[in-house]
Amino acid sequence: MQAVILAGGFGTRLKPLTYTRSKVLLPVLNKPMIAYIVESLPEDVDRVIIAANYKKEQLEEFFGKNDFGKEIVINEEPKPLGTGGAVKFAERYIDDRFLVMNSDIISSLDVGDMVRFHTEKKAFVTISLWPVENVSEFGVVRIESDGRITQFVEKPKPEEAPSNLINAGAYCMERESLDYIDNPDRLISMEQEVFPRIIEDGRRFYGYRIEGFWIDVGRINSYIEVNKILLRRQGKRFLVGNNCEIEGELQDSSVGNNVEIGKESKAISSVILDNVKIGRDVQIENSVIGEGCIIGDGAKIINSVIGDEEEIGGGRIVKGERVWTKPIPEGYPDKQIGNVVRV
Ligand code: GDD
Ligand code: MG
Repeated sequence: MQAVILAGGFGTRLKPLTYTRSKVLLPVLNKPMIAYIVESLPEDVDRVIIAANYKKEQLEEFFGKNDFGKEIVINEEPKPLGTGGAVKFAERYIDDRFLVMNSDIISSLDVGDMVRFHTEKKAFVTISLWPVENVSEFGVVRIESDGRITQFVEKPKPEEAPSNLINAGAYCMERESLDYIDNPDRLISMEQEVFPRIIEDGRRFYGYRIEGFWIDVGRINSYIEVNKILLRRQGKRFLVGNNCEIEGELQDSSVGNNVEIGKESKAISSVILDNVKIGRDVQIENSVIGEGCIIGDGAKIINSVIGDEEEIGGGRIVKGERVWTKPIPEGYPDKQIGNVVRV
């Protein structure tokens, strides 16, 4: 069996962290997000196709250095083709039934069990589901008691949502489902175009509910939250990487490698990436500090994101900001593209 990991897109909702890296390489508890996805795949997945575009050389480097015991193909799209287009573009690497995984989700999904469910139901497509309160930023399904899905709507207005069950971003699909995706020369959304077409055509489309936890890591708040949730699940109040000198205090925070934090400083509900130097009496709350940042004595950073290699002067107060003083990478969109929320 093969698995396609959707690892493209610019991750605009995570900027400025995504000005310098592929979103899927953002570390969660010091491990890149994509590693969680690859490790969750069942043993009988022999080939993993990473559907990538922006910053794909970083992915090549990562998979060149880390062995997951599976063949890894980095399949570069000439330009972002959308979630459906990217899967179609991987067609030549897919032999049979296959999996598709969004790469910005961390969950307790038992992928092997979803595949068993798919087989039992003789399904054409099975998607994982998770209940949420506010469905408007997700794909939402109408489902019958036996698990058959009769409607899929991407990012509906709240009053038009058929249920509170959302697409949790992992699919098991028969190879023939690729026939429902046009050859991509434009953005093709799996959620907006392909799934509704398959359902309309009366094919067996099923929903498999995830038990346990499910976290979307696509936004800054959820990125901070996922680190906290996993810390809590491990019974830890904080995590510190290798070669750090921490004299200050950490609460519900994760700290990368080679980080210094001076006396009287405090980080609460925050993520601090590698090679950061934080002075004395600094307060960091609900924020992300990018790689290689220098934070001067007495600074306060609240509800903010500091991009890689930025310097925050002593005593400065940063509140609700995304700090980035360098040029924005060429071609980086100023708006989210793909399955955007319509307002
Ligand atoms: N290769 C490639 N090319 N990957 C892409 C592209 C593309 O053009 N566009 C997006 N992706 C990847 C993203 O990196 C992400 O892993 C996945 O496809 C889904 O795209 P997002 O941009 O994160 O979509 P979303 O979060 O708005 O909505 C999706 O996820 C929700 C669950 O978190 C949809 O699948 C929803 O239906 C779902 O509920
Ligand atoms: Mg997402």
